[in-house]
Amino acid sequence: MNRPLPVVHLRVPTDEDAVAWHRIFDDPDVMEFHGGRSSELYVYEELTARQRRHDAERGFCLWTMLDESGRVVGFTGAQPWPQEWGPKGEIEIGWRLGREHWGKGYATAAARMTLERVRAAGVESVVGMVLSQNARSIAVTRRLGMSLAETFTTPTSKKEGHCYRLAL
Ligand SMILES: CC(C)(COP(=O)(O)OP(=O)(O)OC[C@H]1O[C@@H](n2cnc3c(N)ncnc32)[C@H](O)[C@@H]1OP(=O)(O)O)[C@@H](O)C(=O)NCCC(=O)NCCS
Repeated sequence: MNRPLPVVHLRVPTDEDAVAWHRIFDDPDVMEFHGGRSSELYVYEELTARQRRHDAERGFCLWTMLDESGRVVGFTGAQPWPQEWGPKGEIEIGWRLGREHWGKGYATAAARMTLERVRAAGVESVVGMVLSQNARSIAVTRRLGMSLAETFTTPTSKKEGHCYRLAL
């Protein structure tokens, strides 16, 4: 890929960002691999509040992504894996973009910044947990140089997924 990555800014999610995330993710394409249905505003209020806590405690979180003009386009970043199953105790990287912002390199650009920040915070490796049908997300892990470490089945919906890992 010779095209330059787009300019992207990351900020710790604010209260207002919960509203922006709710608005831009209210789309069946965006939610296809997240249960298929849009989440209520309170889900994003809790998620953004949790990210502020992670930032305070660890120096990284899932950050709000803004484009060059300051428009919220999604989130990307890292957090402790939040489930009881799977890679407990590891740091997960993740990304979600509003539909109109796909296809421009924003997730890759923001994930590269995430890897630098997480490495600087002393984290030695990260995982990416992706359902095996989510080709766009798997493509992001490839662009980052992550390797397939194992496969898993989600406990409730019984979907097959891939755990990618990258040593920092
Ligand atoms: C997963 C998701 C973030 C991927 O978004 P994306 O735009 O495909 O990924 P990137 O930001 O890395 O951009 C890559 C695209 O930009 C294009 N691009 C343009 N310039 C680029 C550059 N300099 N470098 C890399 N890609 C570039 C690529 O060609 C590619 O587009 P294509 O697949 O249409 O060819 C997005 O599909 C999404 O939000 N999905 C819903 C939420 C979700 O499933 N999250 C992941 C859960 S595990």
